[in-house]
Amino acid sequence: MKLASRLDRIEPFYVMECAKAAVEIARSPACAGSPMIYLNIGEPDFTAPPPVLAAARACMEGGRTHYTQATGEPALRDRISRWYGERFGLDISPQRIVVTAGASAALQLACLALVERGDEVLMPDPCYPCNRHFVAAADGVPVLVPATAEERFQLSAAKVEAAWTAQTRGVLLASPSNPTGTSIAPAEMGRIVQAVRARGGFTMVDEIYLALSFDAAFGRSALSHGDDVIAINSFSKYFCMTGWRLGWLVLPEALVPAVEKLAQNLYICPSSLAQQAALACFETEAIAEYERRRAEFRARRDYLVPALEGLGLRVPVAPDGAFYAWADCSAHAASSWDFCFDMMRRAHVAITPGRDFGHSGTERFVRLSYASSLPALREAVQRLSRVL
Ligand SMILES: Cc1ncc(COP(=O)(O)O)c(C=O)c1O
Repeated sequence: MKLASRLDRIEPFYVMECAKAAVEIARSPACAGSPMIYLNIGEPDFTAPPPVLAAARACMEGGRTHYTQATGEPALRDRISRWYGERFGLDISPQRIVVTAGASAALQLACLALVERGDEVLMPDPCYPCNRHFVAAADGVPVLVPATAEERFQLSAAKVEAAWTAQTRGVLLASPSNPTGTSIAPAEMGRIVQAVRARGGFTMVDEIYLALSFDAAFGRSALSHGDDVIAINSFSKYFCMTGWRLGWLVLPEALVPAVEKLAQNLYICPSSLAQQAALACFETEAIAEYERRRAEFRARRDYLVPALEGLGLRVPVAPDGAFYAWADCSAHAASSWDFCFDMMRRAHVAITPGRDFGHSGTERFVRLSYASSLPALREAVQRLSRVL
Protein backbone atom coordinates (compact mmCIF):
# COMPACT_ATOMS: atom_id res chain seq x y z
CA MET A 1 0.00 0.00 0.00
CA LYS A 2 1.26 3.48 -0.82
CA LEU A 3 1.73 5.66 2.24
CA ALA A 4 0.62 9.30 2.21
CA SER A 5 3.55 11.59 1.45
CA ARG A 6 3.02 13.55 4.69
CA LEU A 7 4.62 10.56 6.44
CA ASP A 8 7.91 11.61 4.81
CA ARG A 9 7.78 14.81 6.87
CA ILE A 10 7.25 12.99 10.18
CA GLU A 11 10.51 11.77 11.69
CA PRO A 12 10.71 8.83 14.07
CA PHE A 13 10.17 9.69 17.75
CA TYR A 14 13.68 8.71 18.88
CA VAL A 15 12.80 9.16 22.59
CA MET A 16 10.43 6.23 22.22
CA GLU A 17 12.93 4.17 20.22
CA CYS A 18 15.52 4.75 22.92
CA ALA A 19 12.99 3.85 25.62
CA LYS A 20 12.35 0.54 23.84
CA ALA A 21 16.10 -0.18 23.78
CA ALA A 22 16.33 0.64 27.51
CA VAL A 23 13.60 -1.90 28.28
CA GLU A 24 15.39 -4.56 26.21
CA ILE A 25 18.72 -3.93 27.95
CA ALA A 26 16.92 -3.98 31.30
CA ARG A 27 15.61 -7.47 30.50
CA SER A 28 19.06 -8.82 29.65
CA PRO A 29 20.96 -10.98 32.19
CA ALA A 30 23.59 -8.21 32.58
CA CYS A 31 21.00 -6.07 34.36
CA ALA A 32 19.96 -8.81 36.79
CA GLY A 33 21.80 -7.46 39.85
CA SER A 34 21.29 -3.77 39.14
CA PRO A 35 17.95 -2.93 37.59
CA MET A 36 17.78 -0.10 35.07
CA ILE A 37 17.04 3.37 36.48
CA TYR A 38 14.82 5.20 34.02
CA LEU A 39 15.68 8.89 33.79
CA ASN A 40 14.40 9.00 30.23
CA ILE A 41 10.72 9.12 31.02
CA GLY A 42 8.69 12.28 30.50
CA GLU A 43 5.98 11.52 33.01
CA PRO A 44 5.62 11.91 36.77
CA ASP A 45 6.41 8.87 38.90
CA PHE A 46 3.31 9.87 40.95
CA THR A 47 -0.19 8.73 40.00
CA ALA A 48 -3.54 10.48 40.38
CA PRO A 49 -4.21 11.13 44.12
CA PRO A 50 -7.04 9.41 46.09
CA PRO A 51 -9.84 12.00 45.49
CA VAL A 52 -9.35 11.62 41.73
CA LEU A 53 -9.46 7.84 41.91
CA ALA A 54 -12.59 7.98 44.09
CA ALA A 55 -14.28 10.30 41.58
CA ALA A 56 -13.40 7.91 38.74
CA ARG A 57 -14.84 4.95 40.66
CA ALA A 58 -18.05 6.87 41.43
CA CYS A 59 -18.36 7.84 37.78
CA MET A 60 -18.03 4.23 36.62
CA GLU A 61 -20.36 2.85 39.27
CA GLY A 62 -22.93 5.54 38.52
CA GLY A 63 -22.82 4.62 34.83
CA ARG A 64 -21.82 8.17 33.86
CA THR A 65 -19.72 6.92 30.98
CA HIS A 66 -21.45 8.30 27.89
CA TYR A 67 -20.23 10.78 25.32
CA THR A 68 -19.90 14.36 26.51
CA GLN A 69 -19.96 17.56 24.49
CA ALA A 70 -16.98 17.76 22.13
CA THR A 71 -15.75 20.85 24.00
CA GLY A 72 -15.90 18.93 27.29
CA GLU A 73 -18.16 18.73 30.34
CA PRO A 74 -19.43 22.26 31.11
CA ALA A 75 -18.62 21.68 34.83
CA LEU A 76 -14.99 20.93 33.98
CA ARG A 77 -14.68 23.96 31.69
CA ASP A 78 -16.07 26.07 34.56
CA ARG A 79 -13.68 24.52 37.05
CA ILE A 80 -10.63 25.09 34.84
CA SER A 81 -11.78 28.69 34.35
CA ARG A 82 -11.94 29.17 38.15
CA TRP A 83 -8.47 27.59 38.51
CA TYR A 84 -7.02 30.28 36.24
CA GLY A 85 -8.48 32.83 38.64
CA GLU A 86 -7.27 31.08 41.80
CA ARG A 87 -3.80 30.20 40.58
CA PHE A 88 -2.85 32.91 38.08
CA GLY A 89 -5.27 35.75 38.90
CA LEU A 90 -6.65 35.55 35.35
CA ASP A 91 -10.24 35.93 34.24
CA ILE A 92 -10.64 33.28 31.53
CA SER A 93 -14.21 32.63 30.36
CA PRO A 94 -15.24 28.94 30.36
CA GLN A 95 -16.48 29.58 26.81
CA ARG A 96 -12.83 29.93 25.72
CA ILE A 97 -11.84 26.56 27.19
CA VAL A 98 -12.02 23.38 25.11
CA VAL A 99 -11.26 20.13 26.97
CA THR A 100 -9.26 17.73 24.78
CA ALA A 101 -7.75 14.24 24.73
CA GLY A 102 -4.46 15.42 26.23
CA ALA A 103 -2.32 18.37 25.19
CA SER A 104 -1.50 16.26 22.14
CA ALA A 105 -5.06 16.55 20.81
CA ALA A 106 -5.10 20.24 21.77
CA LEU A 107 -1.97 20.85 19.68
CA GLN A 108 -3.36 18.85 16.80
CA LEU A 109 -6.73 20.64 16.81
CA ALA A 110 -5.09 24.06 17.02
CA CYS A 111 -2.70 23.27 14.15
CA LEU A 112 -5.48 21.83 11.98
CA ALA A 113 -7.59 24.92 12.63
CA LEU A 114 -4.88 27.46 11.85
CA VAL A 115 -2.20 26.01 9.59
CA GLU A 116 -2.60 25.66 5.83
CA ARG A 117 -0.43 23.87 3.27
CA GLY A 118 2.96 25.61 3.14
CA ASP A 119 2.38 27.86 6.16
CA GLU A 120 5.46 28.30 8.30
CA VAL A 121 5.33 28.05 12.10
CA LEU A 122 8.33 29.23 14.14
CA MET A 123 9.52 27.22 17.13
CA PRO A 124 12.75 27.12 19.13
CA ASP A 125 15.47 24.56 18.54
CA PRO A 126 15.52 22.62 20.90
CA CYS A 127 11.83 21.97 21.49
CA TYR A 128 9.34 19.13 22.07
CA PRO A 129 9.75 16.90 18.98
CA CYS A 130 6.05 16.33 18.33
CA ASN A 131 5.51 20.08 17.79
CA ARG A 132 7.11 20.01 14.38
CA HIS A 133 5.07 16.98 13.48
CA PHE A 134 1.74 18.52 14.54
CA VAL A 135 2.54 21.30 12.09
CA ALA A 136 3.74 18.90 9.39
CA ALA A 137 0.63 16.72 9.80
CA ALA A 138 -1.42 19.85 9.01
CA ASP A 139 0.76 20.20 5.86
CA GLY A 140 2.53 23.23 7.33
CA VAL A 141 6.26 23.81 7.57
CA PRO A 142 7.86 23.82 11.03
CA VAL A 143 10.74 26.30 11.14
CA LEU A 144 13.25 25.53 13.88
CA VAL A 145 14.97 28.71 15.04
CA PRO A 146 18.22 27.95 16.93
CA ALA A 147 17.98 29.17 20.54
CA THR A 148 21.11 29.50 22.63
CA ALA A 149 21.81 29.03 26.34
CA GLU A 150 22.07 32.84 26.66
CA GLU A 151 18.47 32.94 25.41
CA ARG A 152 17.44 30.24 27.91
CA PHE A 153 16.92 27.98 24.85
CA GLN A 154 13.81 30.00 24.03
CA LEU A 155 12.75 32.40 21.27
CA SER A 156 12.83 36.16 21.81
CA ALA A 157 10.80 38.86 20.05
CA ALA A 158 13.94 39.85 18.10
CA LYS A 159 14.44 36.27 16.92
CA VAL A 160 10.77 35.98 15.91
CA GLU A 161 10.94 39.24 13.96
CA ALA A 162 14.14 38.15 12.18
CA ALA A 163 12.76 34.71 11.24
CA TRP A 164 9.31 35.96 10.10
CA THR A 165 8.65 35.60 6.35
CA ALA A 166 5.65 36.13 4.08
CA GLN A 167 4.78 32.46 4.70
CA THR A 168 4.92 32.63 8.51
CA ARG A 169 1.58 32.15 10.25
CA GLY A 170 2.62 32.04 13.86
CA VAL A 171 4.83 30.77 16.68
CA LEU A 172 4.59 27.62 18.77
CA LEU A 173 6.34 27.98 22.13
CA ALA A 174 6.47 25.99 25.35
CA SER A 175 7.14 27.57 28.72
CA PRO A 176 8.58 25.86 30.74
CA SER A 177 10.02 23.83 27.90
CA ASN A 178 10.63 20.18 27.26
CA PRO A 179 13.60 19.30 27.02
CA THR A 180 15.23 22.21 28.90
CA GLY A 181 12.86 23.00 31.78
CA THR A 182 13.47 26.70 31.07
CA SER A 183 10.82 29.38 30.65
CA ILE A 184 10.37 32.60 28.73
CA ALA A 185 10.45 35.65 31.04
CA PRO A 186 6.97 37.25 31.16
CA ALA A 187 8.19 40.58 29.73
CA GLU A 188 9.81 38.81 26.76
CA MET A 189 6.65 36.76 26.22
CA GLY A 190 4.71 40.04 26.11
CA ARG A 191 7.08 41.38 23.44
CA ILE A 192 6.75 38.17 21.39
CA VAL A 193 2.94 38.35 21.54
CA GLN A 194 3.08 41.98 20.36
CA ALA A 195 5.49 41.20 17.51
CA VAL A 196 3.30 38.31 16.33
CA ARG A 197 0.10 40.33 16.70
CA ALA A 198 1.60 43.16 14.63
CA ARG A 199 2.16 40.62 11.84
CA GLY A 200 -1.34 39.17 12.02
CA GLY A 201 -0.09 35.78 13.25
CA PHE A 202 -0.94 33.44 16.13
CA THR A 203 0.95 32.89 19.37
CA MET A 204 0.43 29.35 20.64
CA VAL A 205 2.00 28.59 24.01
CA ASP A 206 2.20 25.09 25.44
CA GLU A 207 1.87 25.58 29.21
CA ILE A 208 1.71 21.90 30.11
CA TYR A 209 4.49 22.42 32.71
CA LEU A 210 3.41 25.86 33.92
CA ALA A 211 1.95 24.63 37.22
CA LEU A 212 5.28 22.86 37.80
CA SER A 213 7.12 26.18 37.89
CA PHE A 214 9.65 26.66 40.72
CA ASP A 215 10.45 30.31 40.26
CA ALA A 216 8.05 33.20 40.84
CA ALA A 217 9.89 35.21 38.15
CA PHE A 218 8.58 32.85 35.46
CA GLY A 219 5.38 31.12 36.62
CA ARG A 220 2.92 33.37 34.74
CA SER A 221 0.56 32.31 31.99
CA ALA A 222 1.01 33.85 28.54
CA LEU A 223 -2.76 34.34 28.60
CA SER A 224 -2.08 37.49 30.63
CA HIS A 225 -0.79 39.09 27.40
CA GLY A 226 -4.14 39.19 25.64
CA ASP A 227 -7.25 37.29 24.60
CA ASP A 228 -5.68 36.41 21.25
CA VAL A 229 -3.07 34.11 22.85
CA ILE A 230 -3.72 30.38 22.49
CA ALA A 231 -2.66 28.30 25.51
CA ILE A 232 -2.37 24.54 25.69
CA ASN A 233 -2.46 22.66 28.98
CA SER A 234 -2.95 19.15 30.29
CA PHE A 235 -3.83 16.95 33.23
CA SER A 236 -0.79 14.80 32.38
CA LYS A 237 2.06 16.47 34.25
CA TYR A 238 1.15 18.64 37.28
CA PHE A 239 -2.04 16.62 37.80
CA CYS A 240 -0.19 13.30 37.27
CA MET A 241 -2.77 11.79 34.89
CA THR A 242 -0.70 10.91 31.81
CA GLY A 243 -2.58 7.77 30.79
CA TRP A 244 -6.01 9.30 31.35
CA ARG A 245 -5.49 11.39 28.18
CA LEU A 246 -6.96 14.71 29.21
CA GLY A 247 -5.90 18.26 28.44
CA TRP A 248 -7.34 21.57 27.31
CA LEU A 249 -6.99 24.54 25.03
CA VAL A 250 -7.72 28.19 25.78
CA LEU A 251 -8.69 29.95 22.57
CA PRO A 252 -9.96 33.31 21.39
CA GLU A 253 -13.73 32.79 21.62
CA ALA A 254 -14.19 33.25 17.86
CA LEU A 255 -12.06 30.14 17.20
CA VAL A 256 -14.04 27.82 19.48
CA PRO A 257 -16.70 26.77 16.90
CA ALA A 258 -13.99 25.79 14.40
CA VAL A 259 -12.12 23.70 16.96
CA GLU A 260 -15.37 22.22 18.24
CA LYS A 261 -16.27 21.09 14.71
CA LEU A 262 -12.87 19.43 14.34
CA ALA A 263 -13.09 17.69 17.73
CA GLN A 264 -16.64 16.45 17.01
CA ASN A 265 -15.48 14.86 13.78
CA LEU A 266 -12.04 13.63 14.79
CA TYR A 267 -12.75 11.99 18.15
CA ILE A 268 -16.28 13.04 19.32
CA CYS A 269 -15.22 13.97 22.85
CA PRO A 270 -12.49 13.43 25.44
CA SER A 271 -12.95 10.49 27.84
CA SER A 272 -15.99 11.11 30.04
CA LEU A 273 -14.46 9.05 32.85
CA ALA A 274 -11.28 11.12 32.84
CA GLN A 275 -13.26 14.34 32.79
CA GLN A 276 -15.39 13.43 35.83
CA ALA A 277 -12.29 12.31 37.69
CA ALA A 278 -10.42 15.48 36.76
CA LEU A 279 -13.02 17.61 38.52
CA ALA A 280 -11.63 16.19 41.77
CA CYS A 281 -8.12 17.47 40.92
CA PHE A 282 -9.18 20.90 42.10
CA GLU A 283 -10.40 19.80 45.55
CA THR A 284 -8.39 21.27 48.41
CA GLU A 285 -6.96 17.89 49.43
CA ALA A 286 -5.84 17.10 45.87
CA ILE A 287 -4.26 20.52 45.30
CA ALA A 288 -2.38 20.18 48.62
CA GLU A 289 -0.98 16.86 47.39
CA TYR A 290 -0.03 18.32 44.01
CA GLU A 291 1.77 21.18 45.73
CA ARG A 292 3.66 18.71 47.93
CA ARG A 293 4.73 16.91 44.77
CA ARG A 294 5.81 20.18 43.13
CA ALA A 295 8.05 20.82 46.16
CA GLU A 296 9.42 17.29 45.73
CA PHE A 297 10.27 17.94 42.06
CA ARG A 298 12.03 21.12 43.09
CA ALA A 299 14.07 19.26 45.73
CA ARG A 300 15.07 16.71 43.10
CA ARG A 301 16.18 19.48 40.75
CA ASP A 302 18.20 21.06 43.54
CA TYR A 303 19.97 17.73 44.07
CA LEU A 304 20.39 16.62 40.46
CA VAL A 305 21.64 19.74 38.67
CA PRO A 306 24.76 20.27 40.85
CA ALA A 307 25.36 16.50 40.87
CA LEU A 308 25.39 16.45 37.05
CA GLU A 309 27.78 19.40 36.96
CA GLY A 310 30.02 17.40 39.31
CA LEU A 311 30.04 14.59 36.74
CA GLY A 312 31.15 16.93 33.95
CA LEU A 313 27.62 17.00 32.52
CA ARG A 314 27.19 20.76 32.37
CA VAL A 315 23.67 22.17 32.63
CA PRO A 316 24.08 25.57 30.93
CA VAL A 317 20.72 26.97 32.14
CA ALA A 318 19.24 25.89 35.47
CA PRO A 319 15.71 24.59 34.84
CA ASP A 320 13.03 26.74 36.49
CA GLY A 321 10.19 24.26 35.99
CA ALA A 322 9.00 20.88 34.63
CA PHE A 323 11.19 17.87 35.55
CA TYR A 324 14.01 17.93 33.00
CA ALA A 325 17.67 18.87 32.98
CA TRP A 326 19.32 19.55 29.61
CA ALA A 327 22.97 18.60 30.05
CA ASP A 328 25.97 18.92 27.76
CA CYS A 329 27.76 15.55 27.53
CA SER A 330 30.46 16.65 25.06
CA ALA A 331 33.17 16.40 27.76
CA HIS A 332 32.57 12.64 27.65
CA ALA A 333 31.41 11.82 24.09
CA ALA A 334 31.00 13.54 20.73
CA SER A 335 27.63 11.88 20.16
CA SER A 336 24.96 11.99 22.84
CA TRP A 337 23.26 9.05 21.09
CA ASP A 338 26.34 6.86 21.69
CA PHE A 339 26.72 8.30 25.19
CA CYS A 340 23.15 7.33 26.12
CA PHE A 341 23.51 3.78 24.86
CA ASP A 342 26.85 3.49 26.64
CA MET A 343 25.29 4.64 29.94
CA MET A 344 22.32 2.31 29.48
CA ARG A 345 24.63 -0.67 28.95
CA ARG A 346 27.38 0.12 31.47
CA ALA A 347 25.67 2.14 34.23
CA HIS A 348 22.14 0.79 33.74
CA VAL A 349 20.87 4.35 33.68
CA ALA A 350 18.50 5.30 30.85
CA ILE A 351 18.72 8.89 29.62
CA THR A 352 17.53 10.53 26.42
CA PRO A 353 19.83 11.73 23.63
CA GLY A 354 19.26 15.26 22.30
CA ARG A 355 18.73 14.20 18.67
CA ASP A 356 14.92 14.32 18.80
CA PHE A 357 14.65 17.84 20.06
CA GLY A 358 16.17 19.73 17.17
CA HIS A 359 19.15 20.06 14.88
CA SER A 360 21.19 22.90 16.34
CA GLY A 361 23.88 21.40 18.55
CA THR A 362 21.43 18.94 20.08
CA GLU A 363 23.85 16.07 19.37
CA ARG A 364 25.93 17.40 22.32
CA PHE A 365 23.04 17.28 24.77
CA VAL A 366 21.14 14.71 26.79
CA ARG A 367 17.84 15.14 28.61
CA LEU A 368 17.51 13.71 32.09
CA SER A 369 14.10 13.50 33.66
CA TYR A 370 13.95 13.85 37.44
CA ALA A 371 10.50 12.28 37.61
CA SER A 372 12.12 9.57 39.75
CA SER A 373 12.54 9.44 43.53
CA LEU A 374 15.53 11.10 45.23
CA PRO A 375 17.02 7.71 46.26
CA ALA A 376 16.79 6.58 42.61
CA LEU A 377 18.44 9.80 41.45
CA ARG A 378 21.25 9.38 44.01
CA GLU A 379 21.84 5.80 42.91
CA ALA A 380 21.84 6.88 39.23
CA VAL A 381 24.42 9.59 39.92
CA GLN A 382 26.64 7.10 41.78
CA ARG A 383 26.49 4.65 38.92
CA LEU A 384 27.21 7.34 36.30
CA SER A 385 30.09 8.56 38.44
CA ARG A 386 31.63 5.06 38.60
CA VAL A 387 31.46 4.62 34.82
CA LEU A 388 32.55 8.13 33.88
C1 LIG B 1 5.87 20.02 25.95
C2 LIG B 1 4.87 18.92 25.84
N1 LIG B 1 3.71 19.15 25.21
C3 LIG B 1 2.77 18.19 25.08
C4 LIG B 1 2.99 16.91 25.56
C5 LIG B 1 1.90 15.87 25.39
O1 LIG B 1 1.17 15.78 26.57
P1 LIG B 1 -0.22 15.01 26.76
O2 LIG B 1 0.07 13.81 27.60
O3 LIG B 1 -1.10 15.98 27.51
O4 LIG B 1 -0.77 14.71 25.42
C6 LIG B 1 4.19 16.61 26.22
C7 LIG B 1 4.46 15.25 26.72
O5 LIG B 1 5.52 14.91 27.16
C8 LIG B 1 5.14 17.65 26.36
O6 LIG B 1 6.31 17.43 27.00
